[in-house]
Amino acid sequence: MKKSSVLLSSFALLALVGCGASNDYTPPADATGERIFSTACTECHKPLRGDVAMILSEKVANKDALKNKFQNGSMRMPAFPNIQGEAADRLADYLLANSEVK
Ligand code: HEC
Repeated sequence: MKKSSVLLSSFALLALVGCGASNDYTPPADATGERIFSTACTECHKPLRGDVAMILSEKVANKDALKNKFQNGSMRMPAFPNIQGEAADRLADYLLANSEVK
């Protein structure tokens, strides 16, 4: 009994931090990059100021690395496998144009 509740709470914790999770959000065909970011990402990535969406480390501050990041996720970030094609390009362009690189 005790063992299973410990197990349950560690699962709940994993779900909370979104470990290896996948998010099935699909952007509308005409969504702008800004719209996708504010719908799918700001839950975790609060915009810093009106004009700065994110602070990006140098290694993700390019289009391919950005798309790879949000399409595949990471240990702590869910993957967004349905942000593809032009929508993925618009989201990556928006981030590159509106982020600071540290
Ligand atoms: C459930 C919370 C969550 C959501 C939703 C989320 N992220 Fe993340 N994201 C994280 C966490 C936590 C990290 C830091 C850990 C890491 O880099 O894997 C991160 C890191 C990143 C990074 C790397 C930043 C850097 O400088 O290394 C990028 C880029 C990113 N997210 C983009 C996005 C985009 C775009 C979306 C929306 C499509 C999104 N995230 C949605 C939690 C989230």
